[in-house]
Amino acid sequence: MRIVLGVGGGIAAYKVASLLRLFTEARHDVTVIPTEAATRFVGVATWEALSGNPVTNSVFDDVDQVKHVRLGHEADLIVVAPATADLLARAATGQANDLLTNTLLMASGPVLFAPAMHTEMWQHAATQANVETLRSRGVTVLEPASGRLTGSDSGPGRLPEPEAIFEAAMALAHGLQAEAPLSPAATVTAGGIAAGTSGARLFPLAGRTVTISAGGTREPLDPVRFLGNRSSGKQGVALAAAARDAGATVRLVAAHMEVPAPEGVELIAVETALQLREVMLTAAAGSDVVIMAAAVADFRPAEVSGSKIKKRDDTADPVITLVRNPDILHELVEVRDAAGSSQLVVGFAAETGDEQGDVLSYAEAKLKRKGCDLLVVNHVGADKVFGQDNNSVVILSRAGSEPQSASGSKQDVAAIVIDRVGSELSRVFPRT
Ligand code: CTP
Repeated sequence: MRIVLGVGGGIAAYKVASLLRLFTEARHDVTVIPTEAATRFVGVATWEALSGNPVTNSVFDDVDQVKHVRLGHEADLIVVAPATADLLARAATGQANDLLTNTLLMASGPVLFAPAMHTEMWQHAATQANVETLRSRGVTVLEPASGRLTGSDSGPGRLPEPEAIFEAAMALAHGLQAEAPLSPAATVTAGGIAAGTSGARLFPLAGRTVTISAGGTREPLDPVRFLGNRSSGKQGVALAAAARDAGATVRLVAAHMEVPAPEGVELIAVETALQLREVMLTAAAGSDVVIMAAAVADFRPAEVSGSKIKKRDDTADPVITLVRNPDILHELVEVRDAAGSSQLVVGFAAETGDEQGDVLSYAEAKLKRKGCDLLVVNHVGADKVFGQDNNSVVILSRAGSEPQSASGSKQDVAAIVIDRVGSELSRVFPRT
């Protein structure tokens, strides 16, 4: 999404650097427009470095590009934080005396203001009238948070926390502002969305990084042949999309897949189990959640021929010797435990059951063996799960809670798994 982030001249401008970070980590393209006063609190260089885009507040820079027209038209969302009393007044009266106010007049998408000022200024009839005017024009003006202000005073006027502004902005961009109930992190009030801090969250994985493996590895025999499996990658792709929609920064480590990766996630393509292992160990190091949805080959050919294996009448047919691949999931758990981190590790189990045990008993043994926090168990067979659009799973937890069943499309199952990940995270790994 293309976002214009207008920054007003208030001390809370420094907090907006964290808001910018949330936007860029969620892969949004952000152009920052600080007011002249804002640059006294946080310099242009900081905004440029954090956004990766050039920053100016003058309508006279790059005049040939008619910047305010382009930015206002192209922005999918404009967020102004902190919205000072002066900025609210200028916006309400339609002034056009700097690049930000010009851009606001050109805006064709949703606009959100996150005010911050002293309580008296916020409660002043002039400010309240300006807020009313803006809201009556369809602009979303958040209620400021209450608490300690810059001096010794306290009361309503604090800038809402960056995560709350992020959630309200995402809700607005997704057209959710008119639908109650949103989470208290972005609840609907008579005047629009108010930012809060607790309760069920609309974007439960906002600010989290999730690494997901998907698809089936291919283990080469020679330059044209490989040992593969029937995984389509559909479940992993659905998980990546669900994690993205929950606000996470998503890395998808994709072995062979029959479906395209979703938009808005970082894609790293791999082929073999050994490549997958290497990428996963690196990617996991910076992740809050790791989900191993890939179908990893347990064995690979001991030797890979550099040229095509030919059939010959003068020699015996080849016998393929296999060697075991490392158990990546188990290794990820070991690395996590050695680091003492609270990372959440989720495994998938494909089971058919046999005469020695049913699907669940094999899955419970697998959960113990692998040591992951959650194990999502599929019942597989020639006609089940692989390549199909629907899925039916049971989620087992190492903490021993009741098995949770989920079924439906792979998207439905993904949403339930990601929801469970969100609640496990908030339990074992609370936000600071
Ligand atoms: N997995 C892994 N590395 C492997 C094999 C599997 O990381 N070499 C992961 C899968 O991504 C999945 C979980 O382990 O999250 C279980 O995979 P599954 O194929 O069901 O189990 P296996 O370990 O292969 O056990 P078994 O052969 O006994 O079924």
